[in-house]
Amino acid sequence: MTLNTEITNKTDNSQSSTIPLKTKPLAKFITFEGTEGVGKTTAIDNLCDKLSEQGIDYIRTREPGGSEFAEQLREILLNPKTDINDDTELLLMFTARSDHLQKVILPALEKGQWVICDRFYDSSFAYQGYGRSDADEQMLTKINQLIDGFVSKKPDLTLWLDLPVAEGMERAGKRSKADRFEQQQLGFFQRVHQGFSFLAGNEPTRFKRIDASGSAEEVSKRVWAVVGELI
Ligand code: TYD
Repeated sequence: MTLNTEITNKTDNSQSSTIPLKTKPLAKFITFEGTEGVGKTTAIDNLCDKLSEQGIDYIRTREPGGSEFAEQLREILLNPKTDINDDTELLLMFTARSDHLQKVILPALEKGQWVICDRFYDSSFAYQGYGRSDADEQMLTKINQLIDGFVSKKPDLTLWLDLPVAEGMERAGKRSKADRFEQQQLGFFQRVHQGFSFLAGNEPTRFKRIDASGSAEEVSKRVWAVVGELI
């Protein structure tokens, strides 16, 4: 996974020779998005296996969380006992994100490691902007301001695993105890889904919809068809 380039080297006695140079392509920042139960974890597991097979150095991380401080905020954000308003929730998401970005994501990319992140700011747009606030214009403006002000690196590619909301909720419901978001009702997740649909229409180059129906293997093939283009 290296690019061979060539430079012409002038030596002291003015003879020219061609030296192959190996340069690494820039490390990529890839995020995964989706509503509950769409199979993100398995899709990320499989993508990471593929990257390893290709000899690509990567880190895997998640939001909210991913750094020590952000993981502390995650505990608060997901705890069903936490009683906060929508603005506070949004600000905590971006507080966690700022720490994660500075301590984990940017240093990894600078070292040439790919970053595979389970959720990023598109989740704030969909969950806080659409789920909590039903696409309220003031809320969406605040979110865009936070992105502009505090997110210095946007993902190169975002994969939205899309499944009918009710189907995903049924899958998720079969798992462990519900956290503060999983306790929400169908209408909330339908609004979140609308938020992701909006992003897919608005930023089709970065934000790609992946059909999340079918087997894990089928979904992983669809993921790889898109990610493979970056290599
Ligand atoms: P997690 O257990 O990681 O959920 P999932 O397995 O569905 O990814 O919990 C993260 C929850 O946080 C998830 O319900 C979505 C929510 N969230 C937001 O509301 N806003 C955000 O900006 C992020 C990153 C996550």
